[in-house]
Amino acid sequence: MRKIAVFVSGNGSNFEAIAVAAQRGDIPHCEVALCVCDRPGAGALERAERLGIKTLVFKAKDYASKAEYETMIADALEAEGVELVCLAGYMRIVGETLLQRFAGRIINIHPSLLPSFPGAHGIEDAFNHGCKMFGITIHFVDHTLDGGKIIDQMGFHYDGQDLDVLETMIHKTEHQLYPAVITRLLEIL
Ligand code: GRF
Repeated sequence: MRKIAVFVSGNGSNFEAIAVAAQRGDIPHCEVALCVCDRPGAGALERAERLGIKTLVFKAKDYASKAEYETMIADALEAEGVELVCLAGYMRIVGETLLQRFAGRIINIHPSLLPSFPGAHGIEDAFNHGCKMFGITIHFVDHTLDGGKIIDQMGFHYDGQDLDVLETMIHKTEHQLYPAVITRLLEIL
């Protein structure tokens, strides 16, 4: 089995989509070995429990520095034999420690067609801008905020006025593309 980890901070719908795809064999020979979460009480943790996936929960403020908690995480990832790290709503900038120890093996999903609308409010920002084309991006993680090399994107036209409808469309697109991209990456890693 190829081992991957999913990093979360909140709801965890992408984590669940990936975990279910792996369990069903839609991502072949793949297991989500660890769900890493920086927020005790995050909804993603209930999903992990239901799906029987091991969690690593930490609070950044319990550590002296980013290097210190990232060393703890990287050690745990190595102990599990994790080959690929998938960020899915993980609300922290990844630091030098993880970037070095998992070089070229950390990816992120972002709910806009990058490089437009990076940051924490990609969907609302694009909606408020009056965009008619929306979409999502999966990219490698580097030092920049949502600026790493793009792996894939999926877009669609939406001309409605309902942000909730748009958000649902975005998340549905995410849940479809993320497992597919992970499948492709595991073939070449
Ligand atoms: C997704 O929209 C993802 O693109 C962004 O954060 C959101 C996470 O949602 N980075 P969920 O926790 O997977 O439901």
